[in-house]
Amino acid sequence: MRYFLGLDVSTTGSKALLMDERGAVKAVASTPHTLQTPRPLWSEQDPREWRQAAAASIRRALTDSGIRGEQVAAVGLTGQMHGLVLLDEAGEVLRPAILWNDQRTQAQCDEIHRRVGRERFIQITGNLALPGFTAPKILWVQQNEPEIYARARHVLLPKDYVRYCLTGVHAMDKADGAGTVLFDLKRRDWSPEILAALDIPQAWMPPTYEGPGFTGRVSEEAAALTGLKAGAPVVAGGGDQAAQAVGVGAVEPGVVALTVGTSGGVFATTPSALIEPQGRLHAFCHAAPGMWHFMGVMLSAAGSLQWYRDTMAPGMSFEELIREAEAVPAGSEGLQFLPYLTGERTPHPDPLARGAWIGLTVRHGRGHLTRALLEGVAFGLKDSFTLIREAGLGEIRQVRASGGGTKSALWRQILASTLEAELTTVNATEGAAYGAALLAAVGAGVWPDVPAACAAAVQITDCVSPDPAQVEAYRRAYPVYRQLYPALKPTFDAMGGIILPENKS
Ligand code: XUL
Repeated sequence: MRYFLGLDVSTTGSKALLMDERGAVKAVASTPHTLQTPRPLWSEQDPREWRQAAAASIRRALTDSGIRGEQVAAVGLTGQMHGLVLLDEAGEVLRPAILWNDQRTQAQCDEIHRRVGRERFIQITGNLALPGFTAPKILWVQQNEPEIYARARHVLLPKDYVRYCLTGVHAMDKADGAGTVLFDLKRRDWSPEILAALDIPQAWMPPTYEGPGFTGRVSEEAAALTGLKAGAPVVAGGGDQAAQAVGVGAVEPGVVALTVGTSGGVFATTPSALIEPQGRLHAFCHAAPGMWHFMGVMLSAAGSLQWYRDTMAPGMSFEELIREAEAVPAGSEGLQFLPYLTGERTPHPDPLARGAWIGLTVRHGRGHLTRALLEGVAFGLKDSFTLIREAGLGEIRQVRASGGGTKSALWRQILASTLEAELTTVNATEGAAYGAALLAAVGAGVWPDVPAACAAAVQITDCVSPDPAQVEAYRRAYPVYRQLYPALKPTFDAMGGIILPENKS
């Protein structure tokens, strides 16, 4: 029996998953990462921590399962998207990585639109320049840390830094490449026009590969650190949203992936490089070769619940909190929650958007706060779902849910009733890491292509239908939610002016 390793370098930790050649998961091991927020709007991690965490997780997955390194036939990588890792000539990390949820670069985004032209930028990359994406982060270092920029020679994304540590090779997959917004979306490769407009040398950008494509081999040094076999092939893999879509089998138009992880995502495969003309949806390459996708991203989905539990109810388990929320009626008796705890992307690309509970009365208890939070995240995801529904892709036949948040039956029910769609869950609950393992297996020839791998390995295990009474309640509450962001926008801007006086315009 051959085994395949999927490695997910996420924000919260590095997860190693071992899968056999029939698609059965044999072991999962995770090692946490720390997150630094040294200034308001900043979000950074030390890439060297990923390297250590990844090695520790791989070792543990091998030991726990009793699978020997020689039996691992290929490795696939996935991870948090968009994070900027800058390396010097010798491959040393030049500064902490600037992450996907870092919000410092609005000025650089505006400048990119000025330099390239907003329409032209959307036409080439398929997207607006948003603070989460990589291009404005590079420009920020260029403008604010010129001494670091002068020493930079390589741009990588988080999982590709770990790839570099494993193989000594600079490489990236097409899905993550597109997420830099330095890509020509149709050509599935770097755009010389955008790179030139931003004064970024093309030589700094690694070669890019399709998800199952071979990128390099595990080095002797990495083999000694991880327990893998030296020479084991490493495939490109994909950014976490695209790998997650593979992991739940969302590789054809009509099957939408809904993710409730730290971030939330609504993901729809497109057969060509379609673009939402105003750039309201992200348009990136899929990890499945020759496909693309639309996506709406919420920055704090299950991340909102995690923050709430950690700060407000540190001694309680998620299950206890959710049990209290179950006792509260749908609509939380008028209480609303805005999930913009780290600003927002879709549908309000606004670094200064803020989280809030609105409508508090003395009648509301902790169960209401929790339920309103679950509902607020569902309403935010409905915003993206509606944009995808309106994108002209045809009928949405199925919504496949995954991510830590969807482990809660209550949250799944709230999501189904809010979206007014049946929500299915699949056997593969390890999302992106599982998708990366499937991509490795396709690369090694176990299945002829990604859709065949998904058809063989991914099965539907559960289906939740909208609850008519809840649907009624949410049809009343959602329009109120929709009013809140526009009403509060001037307040959010004023608050931003207090925390960041230099942002006041
Ligand atoms: C996707 C995005 C997030 C991160 C989280 O555009 O920014 O989903 O990839 O890991």
